[in-house]
Amino acid sequence: MGNEKKSRGSFTGGIGFVLAAAGSAVGLGNLWRFPYLAAQYGGGIFILVYIIIALTFGFALLSTEIAIGRKTGKSPLLAYGAVDKRFGFLGILASLVPVIILPYYCIIGGWVIKYMVSFVSGGAGAAAGEAYFGGFIGDTWPPLLFFAIFLGLTAAVILLGVNKGIEKLSKFLMPVLLLMCVGISIYVLTIPGAMDGLKYYLLPDFSKFSLTTVCAATGQVFFSMSIAMGIMVAYGSYTKPDTNLSKSVNQIEIFDTVVAILAGLMVVPAVYVFSGEAGTKSSGAGLMFQTLPKVFEQMPGGAIIGAVFFIMVFFAALTSSISVMEAIVSSIIDKFHVKRWVAVLICLAITVAMGIPISLGFGVWSNFTILGMDLLTFFDYLSNSVLMPIVALITCILIGWVVGPEYVTTEMTRNGERLSRKTLYNVIIKFIAPIMLVLILVTYSLAQFGIIVM
Ligand code: PHE
Repeated sequence: MGNEKKSRGSFTGGIGFVLAAAGSAVGLGNLWRFPYLAAQYGGGIFILVYIIIALTFGFALLSTEIAIGRKTGKSPLLAYGAVDKRFGFLGILASLVPVIILPYYCIIGGWVIKYMVSFVSGGAGAAAGEAYFGGFIGDTWPPLLFFAIFLGLTAAVILLGVNKGIEKLSKFLMPVLLLMCVGISIYVLTIPGAMDGLKYYLLPDFSKFSLTTVCAATGQVFFSMSIAMGIMVAYGSYTKPDTNLSKSVNQIEIFDTVVAILAGLMVVPAVYVFSGEAGTKSSGAGLMFQTLPKVFEQMPGGAIIGAVFFIMVFFAALTSSISVMEAIVSSIIDKFHVKRWVAVLICLAITVAMGIPISLGFGVWSNFTILGMDLLTFFDYLSNSVLMPIVALITCILIGWVVGPEYVTTEMTRNGERLSRKTLYNVIIKFIAPIMLVLILVTYSLAQFGIIVM
């Protein structure tokens, strides 16, 4: 046991942990999902609701997972069972989420590399072409090749370990990413007409506020903070006992939210100027891979800004995917007592096996769908709309009602730290979060069956 503890990696200190966790949190969710959700749900009002939910719900769940990780010192697969024997199944459920996410996240990561390479090598004009995106993802070998490159890079960092891989990379990439984000936002705001786009992004449109706004914002907080997929449990298990957890949680929340809002500042006004209001509403992959390249093409200096933008997206996606792979690899190591490289190989085999049909689903295998969804959309739906809310709900029951909120709050204050939101934490974990999660599950199911429109 003593040995096992020693062979676990650990972050060297608070900053390493915060930047690694922020690296996980800041990803595609901040850079494309947040901007288009904000545009769709009434700008400022969505941002406001998002911030409130991040500071309450997000704070409570993030603290919970990190505290469970550090207190049990175990990977997600085993940690929940260590909190209470009867909840071992929760470890399995939570570990399933990264296994489902990693393949499609790496497929998208591959698309990002393709765009980064195109822009950096001066192919900005081609990337703006109408058929470029569909032509690329519908092809057979090129997207698989880029998938393999992205997955290979992820695996290389994981092989280097928690300290020399994840922490080192995050400490370098995250500050660079923040700088790029600030730089591009400032540049975009100087473009003539950007102020109208800025108003459109920031001014609250109260008529668009509804229960679905709250659900969409809550779903986004989840995804964005990498909650309910075991990642923060794994990272929590690598933090030292003397690291101030509540301070770290605050810093992670702030980093993640600031990048999301900044991403909106650079994306929404730019798209508004060059593609109008309708352009800001084209959702999902379309916004990043189709609308934005067209915007960069028309923008003065757009070839350079586009290149910097896709480098930044690549950094964000890489630090996120390493966290997903680490959650899986740490579980395999703990459960089967194998070496890190063996666990990485097992993880690679599963990911490649799942990734190939996902990628081909946009081309030669496009006839194959599940519940009317292509495989990528299906896996995204299964993880984000079904499994993650269920994992979070059961976690709230475990902590709020079975072992009691003190399980988490004592861990957060073990070095005598002040936990200013302790009462808030208790109320959220026992009542508010479970109610919101049930609400989300119901809303998503109603939307899935076409009973309501989200
Ligand atoms: N939190 C990441 C983001 O905002 C997304 C993510 C999802 C990261 C799943 C890891 C795992 O994009």
